[in-house]
Amino acid sequence: MSQKQQVAIELKNIIKEFPGRGGEAGMRAVDNVSMEIYEGEFFAMLGPSGCGKTTTLRMIAGFEEPSSGEILLRGKPVQGVPPFHRPVNTVFQDYALFPHMTVLQNVMFGLEMEGVPRAEAEKRAKEALDLVRLTQFDRKPRQLSGGQQQRVALARALVKRPAVLLLDEPLGALDLKLRKAMQYELMSMQHQLGITFVYVTHDQEEALTMCDRIAVMDHGVVLQVGSPEEIYETPRTRFVADFIGETNFVEGRYSTFRDLCALVNLGADTVIEAVLPEGDHLQEGQQVTVAVRPEKISLLPGNGSMEATSVEAAEVLQAVKSEKDKTFVPGVITFSNYIGTDTRYTVRIGEKTDLVVRIQNFGSRYDTRFENGDKVMVFWATENARVLTE
Ligand SMILES: Nc1ncnc2c1ncn2[C@@H]1O[C@H](COP(=O)(O)OP(=O)(O)OP(=O)(O)O)[C@@H](O)[C@H]1O
Ligand SMILES: [Mg+2]
Repeated sequence: MSQKQQVAIELKNIIKEFPGRGGEAGMRAVDNVSMEIYEGEFFAMLGPSGCGKTTTLRMIAGFEEPSSGEILLRGKPVQGVPPFHRPVNTVFQDYALFPHMTVLQNVMFGLEMEGVPRAEAEKRAKEALDLVRLTQFDRKPRQLSGGQQQRVALARALVKRPAVLLLDEPLGALDLKLRKAMQYELMSMQHQLGITFVYVTHDQEEALTMCDRIAVMDHGVVLQVGSPEEIYETPRTRFVADFIGETNFVEGRYSTFRDLCALVNLGADTVIEAVLPEGDHLQEGQQVTVAVRPEKISLLPGNGSMEATSVEAAEVLQAVKSEKDKTFVPGVITFSNYIGTDTRYTVRIGEKTDLVVRIQNFGSRYDTRFENGDKVMVFWATENARVLTE
């Protein structure tokens, strides 16, 4: 078995209810969460504010106990085991450094509490600070920038060589540039040390960039767990598709199933094809939503071979149309917005469907710029359009 497949953390049907205060109803912050996190994995918990990320992390760390369900760390149940006896360490969002101690003392503190001899503790603390590239050993936290404080917090967690590091929005307070730099440092550090990282964030781009797998949460529920590619390319629910990246949601009525694809009627004689997730069954006439990413859609001038604007365009259109597994729909450009790397168009198709389309600007003579009112042929590979029923 490869290292990745050994389970480091297992959550089994975890429920966390907080009691209500002063007659208020109680609050279910985590609602029947089950998942496995593998050894050496960079795992993200991603979701909007209040969805239960911190609560889940605190239960793994031992600062909260579940109302029901079971947590296993490396196969051992940890119910009732206090935080300092668990093989995990936490980097809190607010760093929680000791203000009266120097950088070095902050990092050494946990080791000294464990009874590690002073010289040994100092040696290990300096190694950990070296790892996060900090040299200002004698400063106090208030003499450091936010990014430097964040590194101290990280060194303090790493110095205890935990099997698992829990990170709760550790880059939340940093400016964009520092945040990007720290993202890459964290990734290479995790790679180098082979520690399991559980990384909480509400930033989808951060999760996509950094993590091996992502759990998308909402209202205390894990909606989907998968690699960044799985989550982005094959979101199972509308919430996941909407939360990760930009998506067009096209409303229509299911008509029939042909060549393994669902045909969806958008009105005004417009029918598109889309992939139906395995196991889903639709009734004829059922209202459905089809999700298509803006960058997966292409445009050609003219809305049919007869109206193509040039011989060249007509030839391209013929060639593209002869390819299988593509959906073609005539449309009209209603809005265009040049944004440097791409141009974003809004295209009206069917009766009343507006699609956002992103066309990359290559800067070559093959770039076609469309104007409002232009007729176009809109197309995409059918596998990129997915019916969502949840
Ligand atoms: N000690 C508590 N007592 C009562 N309710 C709580 C407590 N801790 C958290 N909650 C509630 O549980 C829900 C989940 O909170 P949690 O802190 O886990 O969210 P989160 O996903 O980390 O959000 P954020 O991104 O804002 O940090 C929230 O509605 C919150 O108000
Ligand atoms: Mg939180």
